Amino acid sequence: MLQRENILYIRLQLTRSLSMGNSLLTYSIDKIHSALNTDGFVFLKNFGEKNVVTRIHELGTIIMTTDVTVSSEKRNLVNSSLALDFHTDHHKARYIAWYCYKQTDLGGESKLVDARTSYEQLPEDYKKRLQEIHLFEHKIFDDDSESIPLVTLIDEKPHFYYSFWLVKEEDKQDPAFVAFRKGLANNHFLKLRLEEDDLLIIDNHRILHGRTAIKGSQDRFLKRFWIA
Ligand SMILES: [Fe+2]
Repeated sequence: MLQRENILYIRLQLTRSLSMGNSLLTYSIDKIHSALNTDGFVFLKNFGEKNVVTRIHELGTIIMTTDVTVSSEKRNLVNSSLALDFHTDHHKARYIAWYCYKQTDLGGESKLVDARTSYEQLPEDYKKRLQEIHLFEHKIFDDDSESIPLVTLIDEKPHFYYSFWLVKEEDKQDPAFVAFRKGLANNHFLKLRLEEDDLLIIDNHRILHGRTAIKGSQDRFLKRFWIA
């Protein structure tokens, strides 16, 4: 379960020294991987590195980069000022990283909840049923399929794909789905506020994310990276 005291703050100690740099680089990425495996997310305050792409690339292949800003010209949800309910992004993104260039002066907090906690609370027949419930795919890439299971077991671990607005109408009253969603609503969630130079990385197959409405100055600018 996500607990505020469990947030792992790592201040990456970058060095200009090449000899020291390599070892620190390895150590840091290992530590990030370890935290992602254990907690499902890493929140790095004062990342201290403007060339963030180079570091993120060490976690995997960047398959999509998106500017998360408030824009009335773009019609997608990510560029709206609306609050967003808990969801995963595209299933091909194993990890999502957000680097903050600027935060609005009111709202815009990130919200995280551990889907695995809600899943583990369910009886076995409900867990099995969730593997049979397919959500519409949010099609982005050419080879995207029509639908994706809510839960896929890989090495006996559940991997999640979830957005309420992509659930088929006939599945919304399914007892297993209702119980899973109730768990998401009742379990502890984290609310984080990214400030300039903070980096948040989550396991997109486990930690569902959302946000509060972007109010105030609305000059919020995050870079979002999908990492396969
Ligand atoms: Fe998202």
